[in-house]
Amino acid sequence: MIKDIQNLKENFIEQLLELLKIPSISADPDYKGEVKKTAYWIENALKMIGCKTVKIYETEGHPIVYGEVSVSENAPTVLVYGHYDVQPPDPLKLWENPPFEPIIKTTELHPNGAIFARGACDDKGQMFMHLKAIELLKKNNQLECNVKFVIEGEEEIGSKHLEKYITDHKRMLQSDIILISDTGLNSIENPAITIGLRGLSYVEVTVKGPNRDLHSGLYGGTVANPINVLCNMIASLHDENKKVKIPGFYDDIEKISDEEREKMNKNGIDEVNFKKSIEIEDVMGEIGYNTLERRSIRPTLDVNGIWGGYTGKGAKTVIPSAAHAKISMRLVPNQDWKKISKLFKKYFKSIAPKGVKVKVTTHHGGGAYITPTDSIAYKAAEKAYSDVFGTKPHAKRDGGSIPIVPMFEKVLGTKTLLMGFGFDSDAIHSPNEHYGIDNFIKGIETIALFYPHFNALKRNE
Ligand code: BES
Ligand code: MN
Ligand code: MN
Repeated sequence: MIKDIQNLKENFIEQLLELLKIPSISADPDYKGEVKKTAYWIENALKMIGCKTVKIYETEGHPIVYGEVSVSENAPTVLVYGHYDVQPPDPLKLWENPPFEPIIKTTELHPNGAIFARGACDDKGQMFMHLKAIELLKKNNQLECNVKFVIEGEEEIGSKHLEKYITDHKRMLQSDIILISDTGLNSIENPAITIGLRGLSYVEVTVKGPNRDLHSGLYGGTVANPINVLCNMIASLHDENKKVKIPGFYDDIEKISDEEREKMNKNGIDEVNFKKSIEIEDVMGEIGYNTLERRSIRPTLDVNGIWGGYTGKGAKTVIPSAAHAKISMRLVPNQDWKKISKLFKKYFKSIAPKGVKVKVTTHHGGGAYITPTDSIAYKAAEKAYSDVFGTKPHAKRDGGSIPIVPMFEKVLGTKTLLMGFGFDSDAIHSPNEHYGIDNFIKGIETIALFYPHFNALKRNE
């Protein structure tokens, strides 16, 4: 089977390049047709690998693609989830090559080449590995598990319609484990399985002042300037130790034992490299925690965008009538994102001066997730990584969020295993996103080997 991969490698890459050419930008209504086209592409790809049942579910947003390969009623069942939608490629000017014209180039971390395109790593390239792994297993008559695919087109905009879909299709989606490749590992030499995702609460705030933009000479210094006020309010969301000041924000968070902290720091983040890779002089974050901890076991709050007033060319002297910001809060286990959104709203309104009105709306959110490491699925994955990478993978918690994962557990009662193969430096959501050819091929091998290990361990259960 492994030999097969080497023979088919070029072909697999060709197919992925084709998929990457379709601009499936879920956030932009102008691309609705392209998103749909991508769903049909996936539908066809699922048929090609031998799925007998393939179906597109239309939603009020973008379609969900379902596919199924059944081998036997008594065999274990694996549900594969992935997303075919991508983030907007902006700012376009910063791409060395157009985002939807994939090209292979080598980099320091990818000496054997990486595919540069929006979605290469997040998540088309990673999702596609699962299709190819199943194709290989089927071809070799080695598939001993039933496989169900759920590939959606709205992950990057909060999976708005997936919750209803899984609620309506509970029976159809029953499985022993859910497999997802949409996270990362530290390096090929030191692979990791992601066991933690953070939750998310994403809010938007508007600070409204006077009924119109005002002349900044006639009115400046006499009324609350919404931008000045918004900046002050944002500044008072953290204290001098960079702790979030929202009352109750930390109330529910799980306590991490010293032992676990020590263990996770055995595979810490090399801060010198970290700074170098994003060209900053120093890191910054909550006092008392290092970079790895700040982005995995601690909840955080960040402004993602801020606007208002005059931002065009040249100068225009105005006091803006309103100012806006988008804010994300990354959450850890036991924090309820709806509760946190409410606490934010209450606090944010409470710190506004009288001269402005404040509006807070919640966009979307989701819970954090921890994968148990004592399960059969985790052990099978450990074996598969060991086979392919020659070393046992360590467990790591990551900073990003996949809100549907805790939702799967809540609605379907099924645990998720995160087998991600991207690097942090692969620039997901950024210009020049890429995905290593080695990561892609090793990912396919690891996924393919997961199945026989899982089946064998299940039979001995
Ligand atoms: N694949 C990412 C999440 C991710 C990346 C988790 C790397 C861990 C490591 C996913 O596509 C994503 O971007 N999620 C969003 C949340 C969503 C609700 C928009 C995120 O984390 O910002
Ligand atoms: Mn993703
Ligand atoms: Mn993403």
